[in-house]
Amino acid sequence: MTLTANPRTPSRISRETHAHLSELLGRRRPGYSLEAPFYTDPGVFDADMEAIFGQQWIFAASLAEVPEPGDYVTLDIGPYAIALVRTDDGGVNALHNVCRHRGARVLTEARGSTGNLVCGYHSWTYSPDGQLLHAASAPGEKIDKACFALRRAHCRVVAGLIFVCFAAEPPADFDAMSQIIEPYLAPHDLGATKVAYQQNIVEEGNWKLVMENNRECYHCDGHPELACSLFPTWGLTEATVPPHLEAVWQRNTQAQQDLEYRCERYGLPHAVIEQLDTRVAGFRISREALDGDGESFSESGRRLSKKLLGDLRDFRLGRCSLHLQPNSWFHLLGDHAITFAAIPLNAHQTLVRTTWLVADDAVEGVDYTLDELTHVWKQTNLQDQNFVEMCQRGAASPAYAQGPYMASEYQVEMFIGWYVQRMQEHLA
Ligand code: FES
Ligand SMILES: [Fe+2]
Repeated sequence: MTLTANPRTPSRISRETHAHLSELLGRRRPGYSLEAPFYTDPGVFDADMEAIFGQQWIFAASLAEVPEPGDYVTLDIGPYAIALVRTDDGGVNALHNVCRHRGARVLTEARGSTGNLVCGYHSWTYSPDGQLLHAASAPGEKIDKACFALRRAHCRVVAGLIFVCFAAEPPADFDAMSQIIEPYLAPHDLGATKVAYQQNIVEEGNWKLVMENNRECYHCDGHPELACSLFPTWGLTEATVPPHLEAVWQRNTQAQQDLEYRCERYGLPHAVIEQLDTRVAGFRISREALDGDGESFSESGRRLSKKLLGDLRDFRLGRCSLHLQPNSWFHLLGDHAITFAAIPLNAHQTLVRTTWLVADDAVEGVDYTLDELTHVWKQTNLQDQNFVEMCQRGAASPAYAQGPYMASEYQVEMFIGWYVQRMQEHLA
C-alpha cells in the first residue's frame, strides 16, 4: 500500500498547556459557560486543533462543490491543508495538500478543475489519487516514486456531504451515525444539487462561541427575518414557553402535527433523534415545521426555488435539520438546502462558510433569484456574527466570569459537554 494514510503523529501539546488544560477541564462547572482561556488562549486553540479537528470527522464540502471529475476544493482546517478531488467514478479523494518533495502547497487555489496535480515549486506531478507520477531528475538520479505519494486523509461521502478525518484511526461510530441520518437526507438528493451561492464570513470569535451560538434560539428575538419562518420556540418545551411566545407555540404544535402527517404519507422520517453528547459522532436530526406556508425560509414561508429537490413531491416539508459535532449544521428543505461549517482560524477568529444548494436543473432568474434565496440567512448570519463577536470581546475582559446556560440552551451544554469529554480523552 503506497498511499499513506494519516500517520500517527506525536502530540504537539506542550507539557505546560497539557497541565493547564487538564486543570481547567477538571474543574469545569456543568451548566456554565467555559472559563475564558477556552475562548482566548492560543495554547488551548492549538490543543483544540489537535484533539478535536485532528481527531474527529469534519464536514468539509458537499458533492455539489466538486460536480465533475477533476473538480477540486482546498480547505485549511487548523494546521491541516486538504484538497478534495472528485474522481472519475464519482467518488472523492481527500489528499493532504502538502507536496512530498519539500512540502509546498500543491493546489494553491480555493477551487478549480485539474487533471494531474502539479506542484508549482519543482513540478512534481501527482495523479488525482495522489500517486507521484513524475519528478524531474538528473541522469542516473532515481527516487522510488511509490514512496512519495501525497498523503491521504480518511474521507466519507454521506448523502452528498463530504467528511474528512485526519486521525490515524478515525472514530469508529461515524458509520453507525451515518446510517441513522442518511434516510432523512437521501430524499433531498444533495448529489443532484448545484451551488447557488457560497458566503464566507470571518467572525472575530473563537470557534466554540460560534457553535454555542448556533445551538440555541434563546437569542432568536435578534433574528426578525428568520423568525418569520423558523419558529422561535425552538429549544423550548411546553413547560418553558414564555408568555410572549405562547401563541407561536400553539401554531408550531399544530404545524408540526400537520407536517408529521405529510411525512407519514410520503414515507419521510421525522422523529427527533438527539445524541449530541452520548456518542463520539455526536448529532441531532429532526424534521420540523416552518411557519406560514411551511415551505422555506422566506417572509411568508413560501418556496424560494420553484424546483423541488430530489424525489420530493411536496414543498411543504418544513426543514430537515441536522446538527453535527464539532462544527457543522444543515437545513434541508423541499426547495433548497443550506450547509454551514465553522472552520477555526485562530483562537479568536472563525470562518463561517454557508452554502446554498438548489436542484441542479433550477435556473437562476427563472426558478429562483439569489437575493431572495439568500436574504434570510445572510441577515441571520450577520446577526449571529455580531452575537459571537460581543461574547468574544467579553471573554477577553478580566471581568468575564462563567455564566449559566438556561433551560432552552440545553444543546449548548451538550456541545460543551461533548467537547470536554473529547478533550479529556485526548489528554489522557
Ligand atoms: S516542493 Fe513540490 S515539487 Fe518541490
Ligand atoms: Fe442565531
